[in-house]
Amino acid sequence: MLLPDKKLLITGVLTDDSIAWHSARVAQEEGAEIVCTGFGRGLRLTERSVQRLPEQCDVLELDISNPAQVEAVVADLDQRWGRVDGALHAIAFAPEDALGGNFLNTPVESAQTAFTVSAFSYKTLAVALLPLMKQAGGGALVAMDFDNSQAWPAYDWMGVAKSALQSVTRYLARDLGGHNIRVNAVSAGPLGTVAAKSIPGFAKFDQVWAERSPLPWDTSDPDPVARMVCVLLSDWAPMTTGEIVHVDGGFHAVAAGVDDD
Ligand SMILES: NC(=O)c1ccc[n+]([C@@H]2O[C@H](COP(=O)([O-])OP(=O)(O)OC[C@H]3O[C@@H](n4cnc5c(N)ncnc54)[C@H](O)[C@@H]3O)[C@@H](O)[C@H]2O)c1
Repeated sequence: MLLPDKKLLITGVLTDDSIAWHSARVAQEEGAEIVCTGFGRGLRLTERSVQRLPEQCDVLELDISNPAQVEAVVADLDQRWGRVDGALHAIAFAPEDALGGNFLNTPVESAQTAFTVSAFSYKTLAVALLPLMKQAGGGALVAMDFDNSQAWPAYDWMGVAKSALQSVTRYLARDLGGHNIRVNAVSAGPLGTVAAKSIPGFAKFDQVWAERSPLPWDTSDPDPVARMVCVLLSDWAPMTTGEIVHVDGGFHAVAAGVDDD
C-alpha cells in the first residue's frame, strides 16, 4: 500500500467526477484515513458523493476564504487525529466575468477573487495545517494546477490565478521544507468536472488534447491524476518539493500532434 496509516485532508470534493473525489478514493484504497471538505451550496452534494467512496468518510464544511471555518476544520482534525500527514488543495473559482474571453474588461475585484480563492488559498491551507503537520513530523501538500505557461482561449484570469498558484507552490516549498513538509502541484489535462464545464469553450480544450497529446487522453478518466496526487502525498517522493508534475498525457512537451498515417 502507498499510504498506510496516513491521515489526510481532501478539499474540493463536489461530485464523483471531482478530481478530489477520485484522489480520496485512491487514498482510501491505498490505506489512508481521510476527511473531506465541502463548500457552500455544494455541501449537500459533497455529503452524497462521499457515500460512494469505498469507505465511510466524514465531511467538514470549508469555505477557504472564511477564517472561522478554516479554524473549525483544524480544531476538528486536532481532536480527531492530533496530527495531519498531508492535504490536497483542489479548490478553484473565478467569477463569470473573469472567464470566457472577457479578459480586457474584467474588473479588478473579479480577478482578485480568482486569485484569492484559487491561489492565495494554498498558503491559507498550508499555514492552518502547519501545527498539525509538525505534530506528524512533516508531510506533503498537493495542489491542482492547469498549465498556464501559454495563454488559452476562455481561461483568462483563472489562468493568471493558476500561474500564481505555481509560484505559491514554490514559495511554500521554500518556507516549509525546514519542517519536512513537501509542497507540490499536479498539472492535469482537461477533465469533465463541474469546474471545467463552467468554463465557456471548455470543449476546445478536449479538441486540442485529442490532436496533440502523445498519450491518448481521456477527459472522463481522472484516475491517472488521482494516482499522481497520492504518489506525491506518499513517502515515495521524499525529496520532491516545489515541483509541478504534469499528468496531461505529455501534452505540455510537444508543439503539435503527429499524424496517424
Ligand atoms: N477539470 C479540469 O480539467 C482540471 C484540470 C486541471 C486542474 N484542475 C483543478 O482541479 C481542482 C479541482 O477541480 P475539479 O476540476 O475537480 O472541479 P470540481 O468542480 O469538482 O471541484 C472544484 C472545487 O472547488 C471548491 N471550491 C470553490 N470555491 C471554494 C471555496 N471558497 N472554498 C472551498 N472550496 C471551494 C468547490 O466546492 C469544488 O469542490 C481545481 O483547482 C481545478 O482548477 C481541473
